[in-house]
Amino acid sequence: MESVSASIPKAAADPERPVYHFHPPANWHNDPNGTMFYRGWHHLFYQFNPYGSSWGHMHWGHARSRDLVNWEHLPIALAPSEAKGETAVFSGAAILTRDGEPRIFYTSIGNRAPEQWMAAPADQELIVWTKSPSNPILTTAVHGTLEVSDWRDPFLFTEDGATYMVCGGNTSRQRWGGAGQVQLYRAINDELTKWKYLGTVFDCRDREIVNIECPNLFKLDGKWVLIVSPQKPCEYFVGSLDLKRPRFTPEAHGILDAGNDYASNISTDPSGRTILWLWGRTDNPPSKGWNSVMTLPRILSIGSDGFLRQQPAPEFERLRGAAMTAGAVPLTATPSVIGGIRGDCMELDIEVSLGKAAAVRLDVRCSNSGKTGASITISRGGLLSVGRATTLLGKNERYRLRVFLDKRVFEVYANDGLAALYGTTDAGRDDLGIAASAHGDGAELTAIKGWHLKPAEFDLSRFRT
Ligand code: FRU
Repeated sequence: MESVSASIPKAAADPERPVYHFHPPANWHNDPNGTMFYRGWHHLFYQFNPYGSSWGHMHWGHARSRDLVNWEHLPIALAPSEAKGETAVFSGAAILTRDGEPRIFYTSIGNRAPEQWMAAPADQELIVWTKSPSNPILTTAVHGTLEVSDWRDPFLFTEDGATYMVCGGNTSRQRWGGAGQVQLYRAINDELTKWKYLGTVFDCRDREIVNIECPNLFKLDGKWVLIVSPQKPCEYFVGSLDLKRPRFTPEAHGILDAGNDYASNISTDPSGRTILWLWGRTDNPPSKGWNSVMTLPRILSIGSDGFLRQQPAPEFERLRGAAMTAGAVPLTATPSVIGGIRGDCMELDIEVSLGKAAAVRLDVRCSNSGKTGASITISRGGLLSVGRATTLLGKNERYRLRVFLDKRVFEVYANDGLAALYGTTDAGRDDLGIAASAHGDGAELTAIKGWHLKPAEFDLSRFRT
């Protein structure tokens, strides 16, 4: 805690640190962990290195929010139990017991094979966590003769009164690539300390994928959804789940977000919404004193076409300040600056009509001399590109883009959440312009709205309690 506190002034002094994307007090974080709604609060735990702003020494940081926007930082929830040979506390998830008591499960790393451990809260605010005396609650021995490597990242769900866990990993030892797997287990006591191995619920027969991390398996709109982090952009599958065989059978497949984010987690809230949490990388140099954000919490649904939709939580509309508008902008090959809309911390809502043009480009964080901070392109074939990340939207006459700029990071949501892309920019402090251009004739920005967004609150007063 002292180490984190010592880095706060440096992190806070960086004018490019995002102001409404979730971030810890300082230093490095990665995956969202143990996301849950409990007693009026959204709890977010996260992979945290208290000792620096690059990956290492994994602990679980902790924060809570009433509204998904404003946060209270809380003390570090889990640290490695060095006396028990634990050197790192890797990713995991939360679930409520039959009695409604929260439990968190995570992968315990030590000088041995990974193990799955459990912890219980000592208080209703979930501030102090006690690791179970029954740990490890699962070891690789549970798989019998099946050799699972990189076995980690438990995720839990309940179905028909039973509690299930999935873990990622691979059986690539003999055949490098094409053997990523998701394993399934069922709790056999109410305390969730005893588990039965049910089998491989998903085989990732993709040559390009060596390992599966952070599998999330959950029900959504009457289907089952599996999200995996395959050491490249997260992928999702919508399908059905047979818990007896056990087998998850995909019917639809897509890239969750082709941008620079990773390691999803899921929570549900009392209104029945399913919330997606993702780690947004920033790849900062260590000198900055901070690294990464969480993407905006995204509300998930399944569209009538059977594919996933992701929308930023509407709660972020509360941060809207002054509105900005611009009339229709005809587009030419030379980028035209959109007058009246400027900033590094804002939401844009833009409708693009392609006409006969091959592509339309929206540049954000532009300098006065016309240098571009990031470009968002829609091409005639319906391809949305942000830098090297691309995703297929499909052929449309019009596209709607919602863009959230937050200093060094931004997110693009296209066509009512059919695609979402997270990215970063190295634009300079004064690069605040928006410009648009087109290749070919007849393209237009038919509607442009924008709002300056206020910073969210990140309250540090409970961080050291
Ligand atoms: C994903 C991941 C997880 C692991 C954690 C360690 O980013 O590699 O598989 O549990 O990060 O920080």
